[in-house]
Amino acid sequence: MAKTHITMKVNGAEVEGLVEPRTLLVHFIRENLAMTGTHIGCETTHCGACTVDIDCMSVKSCTMFAVQANGADIRTIEGMAAADGTLHALQEGFREMHGLQCGFCTPGMIVRAYRLLQENKNPTEDEIRFGISGNLCRCTGYQNIVKAIQYAAAKISGVPFQEAAE
Ligand code: FES
Ligand code: FES
Repeated sequence: MAKTHITMKVNGAEVEGLVEPRTLLVHFIRENLAMTGTHIGCETTHCGACTVDIDCMSVKSCTMFAVQANGADIRTIEGMAAADGTLHALQEGFREMHGLQCGFCTPGMIVRAYRLLQENKNPTEDEIRFGISGNLCRCTGYQNIVKAIQYAAAKISGVPFQEAAE
């Protein structure tokens, strides 16, 4: 099958590749770019494990063909930590608040929460729950994921994190 040459920016670096028209973006990211932090849970736009940030929007990368991302600016979980390895506030929050168990949903959750906090620096619990409603977690029951995002929101805003009484 004829292949198309595509270029895009991923985590700040220019990348390119030859892809078939049917190649999904998530497969391009995982197989061509060898960035396997973006997970595949369903390939049917249901679970959110494949979420990446594209041109300032959360996108399920199993929902797009790679050719549709030609020219895009993409951030994956590999681009969340600083160059010196310092964890992003969200990564720290998931660690500190035990926001993961098996970890399969975690990259998609963190990338989704990143965009959520870009759009709303101080979300309520309801806004967090609504904001991550496209990302499924089979393990945690979500409570600690919400706390992890609250932790990150507080850290980014420079205020102490105070856990709500249960
Ligand atoms: S793998 Fe894309 S939404 Fe599940
Ligand atoms: S931590 Fe296992 S699916 Fe979320």
